[in-house]
Amino acid sequence: MAEKRVGVIGFPVEHSLSPIMHNAAFAALGLRDWLYDAMSIPPDILRLGLREPMQHGYVGINVTVPHKEAIMQFVRPDDTAKAIGAVNTIDFRTGIGANTDADGLLKDLAANGVEIADARVLVLGAGGAARAAVYGLARAGATVAIVNRTMKRARRLVKQLQDTAGIRGLQVMTLDEAASWGMSLIVNCTSVGLHPHITQSPWIVGLPFPTEVTVYDMVYRPANTALMQQCVAHGGRAIGGLGMLARQGAIAFELWTGLEPPIAVMMDALRSVLENKGEAKGEG
Ligand code: ATR
Repeated sequence: MAEKRVGVIGFPVEHSLSPIMHNAAFAALGLRDWLYDAMSIPPDILRLGLREPMQHGYVGINVTVPHKEAIMQFVRPDDTAKAIGAVNTIDFRTGIGANTDADGLLKDLAANGVEIADARVLVLGAGGAARAAVYGLARAGATVAIVNRTMKRARRLVKQLQDTAGIRGLQVMTLDEAASWGMSLIVNCTSVGLHPHITQSPWIVGLPFPTEVTVYDMVYRPANTALMQQCVAHGGRAIGGLGMLARQGAIAFELWTGLEPPIAVMMDALRSVLENKGEAKGEG
């Protein structure tokens, strides 16, 4: 049986949890001919580095920091990847580049029973993770407002999504304004609170925390962030980003193998390895 290879490229990539998650899924389904590995490719040789897995017959790869945007020029991005401006999954059989972060988030929110359609959702952050989240949430029918430390960057995100995906109605506000906006869901797409800075929260201390909201924190290490603790202390519900990590990977798994991904196995694999390592957000 010919070996079927997939993997992840990044720089650095040693910290990636994707190999553990995907190889656990292959093992659980008895796919002994499938293997997922990590390839460290510096940005200045990205084009050359991409040839390596292609020439070695890889089925596809995941793409992580810092290549998600730069890789766009070497693949055929699908509509979602074009709108988000980043590719995190490639299928070499078709040459198509996809972005599974937005759907990974939406699927995990749905799995947790969080309503999105017609909900007011506050997104914290304006980087790549936020762009995927805002795109997915707006397309799912939410009214989205964005708060970011650098307001100019939030405005740029709004313009980009309007230009690339025709998304309208996005608002940029200050955290003060957001505090009384009346959202039902807050999605943290910043890296604030990430290990080892576990006491930090993107919701500034002293500003009243909204009561009875749901917080979805893309940060998954620690499993219970300072923001999640603030939320629960004010009668809300908090969900960590591990499920998004598993589900964005599961969408890629299904794309490559054509099989239903064993989500529970993938989550368990992540949970057990996170006891010792891993510092990232819920996007791959
Ligand atoms: P990613 O691609 O993972 O989203 P990024 O593009 O580096 O990563 O974005 C990180 C996000 O976290 C940004 O919204 C950033 O705010 P700025 O745009 O103002 O830089 C936010 N962030 C990081 N550190 C922060 C901090 N200490 N306080 C507030 N926001 C912070």
